Amino acid sequence: MIKLFSGSANPKLSQEVASILNLPLSSSKITRFANSEVKVTIQEKVKESTCFVIQPTSNPTDTHLMELLFFADALKRNGAKKIIAVIPYFGYARQNREHLPGESVSVNVVIRILEYVGFDAIFAVTLHDEATEGVFSVPFKNIDGFLVLHKKISSYLSNHFKNEAVIIVSPDQGGVERAQNFADSFFHQKNVEIAVVEKKRNLEKIHQSKALNLFGNVKNKIAIIVDDIITSGQTLVNAADLCLKKGAKKVIAAVVHPDLSPSAKETIEKSPIEKIFVTNTIQLKEKIDKIEVVSCASLIANAIKEYLS
Ligand code: R5P
Repeated sequence: MIKLFSGSANPKLSQEVASILNLPLSSSKITRFANSEVKVTIQEKVKESTCFVIQPTSNPTDTHLMELLFFADALKRNGAKKIIAVIPYFGYARQNREHLPGESVSVNVVIRILEYVGFDAIFAVTLHDEATEGVFSVPFKNIDGFLVLHKKISSYLSNHFKNEAVIIVSPDQGGVERAQNFADSFFHQKNVEIAVVEKKRNLEKIHQSKALNLFGNVKNKIAIIVDDIITSGQTLVNAADLCLKKGAKKVIAAVVHPDLSPSAKETIEKSPIEKIFVTNTIQLKEKIDKIEVVSCASLIANAIKEYLS
């Protein structure tokens, strides 16, 4: 038997995946105590079943992560044959090295814990750094979230900026490969020219960065900034400002994970970015006019089907 469980982080996405797979969401109960502890109860038989648990470990990250870990324990105790964590947004993925001496490499710790509690396989959507895949010692599937953004952006461009020249922009050095892959799939050809922003993070202060330089020719083009995550919005907005300064006609953005901090709405609204296309790996708390959400449920459903085939 195949069973699909949902944590509390993004039940709407879980429901969409379940509908595509033509499966009901299995019954579970998440109890939160007044002291903030959480309890997970599996409310149906899972003996000998292959169980998937869909839970982005998005803000509040630790809360959602603990829930996911307790799902693993409860499913194992109830005799599940296999348990698979489907983590559309993988929290802590950006803490993948010691940026400054003395720091923890938190993503490695999270991976070890997920393995320790018994997950047989782990799926994520657009993990921050592909190199982190090497840390997993159970099968890991990195689902490409950008796949659902290409089509939407193409139709947006043909409706609003038909026949305009377009360039893909990475807002930092770390995102060059991501932007190149996006450009190759977007234009259906290899080695498309992209532009890259030289970003400098302030490692002493959180959420602060500067866009120093732009390499590549954005003049008279529609710039599509491609990034995996938007949190404060600084990276995107700084890159957009620089693109416009260097002569870009308009700026739009394609970002997989809308991990928005409280100040992001205002930053985005005040920015010169026309439109930001994101996926629903993280459920947005409020509507932001410039943000258009594209569902990635079909990608997750396909990954589940592939695993089971
Ligand atoms: C950085 O390496 C990531 O790919 C994103 O560019 C970054 O995390 C976005 O954060 P913010 O929106 O706070 O600038």
